Parts: sequence; C-alpha cells; structure tokens
Amino acid sequence: MKRLDYLVTGANGQLGRSLLQAAADRGRSIVGVGHQQLAVEDQDAVRRCIDEHRPRFVLHCGAWTNVDGCEADPQQADRINGHGTAYLAEACLGTDCGLCYVSTDFVFDGAAKTPYTVDAPVAPLSAYGRSKRQGEVAVLRHEHPAFYVLRTSWVFGPGGKNFPKAILDRARSGNALSVVTDQRGRPTYTPDLAAAMLDLCESRAPGGIYHAANEGECNWHEFACEVLRQAGLGHLVVGETTAAKFARPAARPAYSVLDTSRLDAVLGRHFPHYRDAVARYLREESL
Ligand SMILES: NC(=O)c1ccc[n+]([C@@H]2O[C@H](COP(=O)([O-])OP(=O)(O)OC[C@H]3O[C@@H](n4cnc5c(N)ncnc54)[C@H](OP(=O)(O)O)[C@@H]3O)[C@@H](O)[C@H]2O)c1
Repeated sequence: MKRLDYLVTGANGQLGRSLLQAAADRGRSIVGVGHQQLAVEDQDAVRRCIDEHRPRFVLHCGAWTNVDGCEADPQQADRINGHGTAYLAEACLGTDCGLCYVSTDFVFDGAAKTPYTVDAPVAPLSAYGRSKRQGEVAVLRHEHPAFYVLRTSWVFGPGGKNFPKAILDRARSGNALSVVTDQRGRPTYTPDLAAAMLDLCESRAPGGIYHAANEGECNWHEFACEVLRQAGLGHLVVGETTAAKFARPAARPAYSVLDTSRLDAVLGRHFPHYRDAVARYLREESL
C-alpha cells in the first residue's frame, strides 16, 4: 500500500489549513488532525496516531500559540509545546517518519541588530519562547537527517486570527488605532510558508534548523499601515506607540528579523515580498 505523504498536527490552525491546501494542490496525500483529534501532550495518543497513519513526514503545527496565556501557565506551555513535540519526535523515530516542527522567532531575545542566522544563540524572553525552544531541543537531539526545525515569524493566513485581520476589524469598527514602532520582524504568509515546508521536506536537505519568512522587514506600525493602504484605508491615522506603553504579560523580542539564507539556498528562491503577500491575503479573504 502506498505510504501517506503527510500528517499535519494543529490542522485547523492558520498554517495547518494552508498545508492541507498546498499538499492537495500538488497531488500529495495528506491527513490533518486538529486539536480535538490529537492533543499532542497525550503521549499514548501521539504514538497511536503516528502508528496508524505512518506518514513519510509529520508537519507539526499544533501548539499553544497564545503567548500571554503561556506566560500565565508555563507548565501547560511546556506540556504542549515542549513535551508534546518530544513525543512526536519519538513516535516518528519509531516509525521511520520525517518531522518538520514549526518554531518561532520568540526563541531570540531581540538584542541583535542584524538578522538572526540559524546558529545564532537563543535566549527566549517568554514562557512561550522557552516552551517552543524545548520543542526544538527535543527534535534536534536525535540528529536525524529528516528532522527539521523551521522557525518563522509574524504569521498570518486565510481563516486565521492574525494581525492584519485584527487591524482591519478595528479600523472598520471606527476605533482609534495605535501600533508599536519598536518591534521589528518579517511577516510570513501561510500559503508561502506551507509551500516552502513541503519543498523542504521533499528536498532531502540535511536535517536541522531553517528560517522561513517573507522578504522585507518592518515594524508593526509599518505593517499596519501597509495593510490599511492596500485595503483602501490608507487615509486613516495610525498612532505610534511603544512596547513599554502597550504593556502585555509576556515580553516580545524588539528585533526578530530572521536570516532565511539557509532555506533560500535549499529552495533556490526567495519568498515573495510581504507586501505581495498582503495583497494576496486581502484578495483571498475578500477584505
Ligand atoms: N502565529 C505566529 O505569529 C507564529 C509565529 C512563529 C511561529 N509560529 C508557530 O507556527 C505554528 C502554527 O501557528 P499558527 O499561526 O497556525 O497557529 P494557530 O492558528 O494558533 O494554530 C495552532 C493550532 O494548534 C492547535 N493546538 C492547540 N493546542 C494543541 C494541543 N495541545 N495539541 C494539538 N494541537 C493543539 C490549535 O487548536 P485550538 O485553537 O483548537 O486549540 C490550533 O488549531 C505553531 O507551532 C506556532 O508556534 C506561529
């Protein structure tokens, strides 16, 4: 019997949905398991799920992504993002499956002034960042040739709860907008990320860490202005604020621009610019 190509965890999340679509578009077999079907902190359930499907690759997107929620309950963050990932890596090892674990720019402290390369030292500022780093270590410790840690940043995609959607909702409800200027990164569009993930898995590139993000960097204020401009709301005034004034429970890195050159070299291409991604997102969502 032909082996299943991909199994995706967290399949109802914004990246999970794009992966289901991207795999179907290129004629690959893929099964998605949402949080209801598989809670990754349940080790027996993880083992059963991988045994049942035996995919060529597990695309591990399931995570507790509520950064401030993680700060309030770090043990639960570790259970899901750390231990859950370790269980998946062990189950993949036992069934000869590759693994692509999606990680985050929040493993960095943001003190850098130039883009973070894959081997830059990590120093997460938040419980979420620490739990995702725990997941990375659980994958990397196996030194498996087909185990990938794919770090990404500022993710937005169709059907998701994300920054561009939040800005547009707020703007259209007539509320004042105020956005931070002192955090800088690279927005990432899930259809572009999903295509790159599949390409990485199919590339036979060496296992290890890769960084993935759309081209171009900005701060959140610039990102908001670009979204509004493209949505025909460029006349709206967007106030400027700082992370210190807009205090939240979990600290975010001030600078988390990822250097994607290792992945670009494997794929033989750059990601499209984030402005192009915003245009496609607005079209896709009819926003
Ligand atoms: N969003 C970003 O800006 C960003 C940036 C860098 C990296 N990432 C990483 O990228 C990946 C995908 O993120 P996303 O933006 O697609 O997030 P998302 O939309 O929040 O999707 C995450 C999915 O994981 C599910 N989930 C939550 N707890 C789970 C558990 N215990 N077991 C299994 N699944 C669980 C969620 O289901 P419920 O909603 O039903 O709980 C949700 O469908 C994550 O690994 C995230 O850490 C995201």
